[in-house]
Amino acid sequence: MMSRTVLLLPGDGIGPEIITEAEKILRAINEKFDLKLTFETGLVGGAALDEEDNPLPDETLEKARKADAILLGAVGGPKWDALPMAKRPEKGLLGLRSNLKLFANLRPAILYPQLASASSLKPEVVSGLDIMIVRELTGGIYFGQPRGVRQLESGERQGYNTYAYTETEIRRIGRVAFEAAQQRGKKLCSVDKANVLEVTVLWREIMNELKSEYPDVELSHMYVDNAAMQLVRAPKQFDVIVTGNMFGDILSDEAAMLTGSIGMLPSASLNSEKQGMYEPCHGSAPDIAGKGIANPLATIISAAMMLRYSLDEEAAAAAIEAAVNRVLDQGLRTADIMSEGGTRVSTREMGDAVLAAL
Ligand code: IPM
Ligand code: MG
Repeated sequence: MMSRTVLLLPGDGIGPEIITEAEKILRAINEKFDLKLTFETGLVGGAALDEEDNPLPDETLEKARKADAILLGAVGGPKWDALPMAKRPEKGLLGLRSNLKLFANLRPAILYPQLASASSLKPEVVSGLDIMIVRELTGGIYFGQPRGVRQLESGERQGYNTYAYTETEIRRIGRVAFEAAQQRGKKLCSVDKANVLEVTVLWREIMNELKSEYPDVELSHMYVDNAAMQLVRAPKQFDVIVTGNMFGDILSDEAAMLTGSIGMLPSASLNSEKQGMYEPCHGSAPDIAGKGIANPLATIISAAMMLRYSLDEEAAAAAIEAAVNRVLDQGLRTADIMSEGGTRVSTREMGDAVLAAL
């Protein structure tokens, strides 16, 4: 088997702390399963701005293109908030997504039974929850042109963005979602705002067209405002949700909270070659950075997703997930998932416990 390269991009805030733990697990699993992975690291986000005055240095992009998979911590923080848009840490992340054409963002929201009491919703509403949000990641209002802040003739400034999707973009994310539904509960809900926005009228039309290729999948449509409500009212009605970039950003944070903590949720961003970037759904959490209390599990589970989707190492992925389950069974909890009867542990202790459980 030839060697494969994993690029680690710690980024900002709690990024370096959680990547350290995930790297520990990956190195151990690499030995144990003889995966022949080699590891590289790179700068992205604020860390790259500080060193190179660029949130996505050429060197990082080059390494990312060559890597078989990328594991990213998080980017951003108050230190860089006042910078112009082109120099924001987030541009590093968005640049990686668009340059590598990582259009398909998979964000599973799964409730670990051990954490049912950490959810802000009643246990009966969330127990057994298992949703997959398929978010389009390289188009929509995040990338639409024109965009900017312009001077109007009246003298006042106007900010504007463009919400646009081509048929091709809609079709390719639609296929990923239909295929995901086929592998799961065979129910797909497409979320749009087709009562107001033409772009999502087209979105809905294409999803309906695709449906004929997937006769075994039940397709429904929902307006995004209703979807936001249904997610907290009766989240178990959903199996797979497919939606555009911005709605997906918002709904995936909401879905994350159903499971108790966003500190548990992994994500995968894939291109059509299955090359992928894996990252926790949460951000850089500057308020707790450096305190050693962040939950490394979302990153560790993201590493498991990476083994499964980009590196074809199902057994190694399952071993990591089983180890995570075991530490949760043991009652070990970082602050964000702490509840009565749990044993509070630090970021590093959590990583060590997963390592021991492996
Ligand atoms: C996410 C984040 C990013 C996004 C930010 C950091 C640019 O919120 O991955 O959900 O909006 O996509
Ligand atoms: Mg987000």
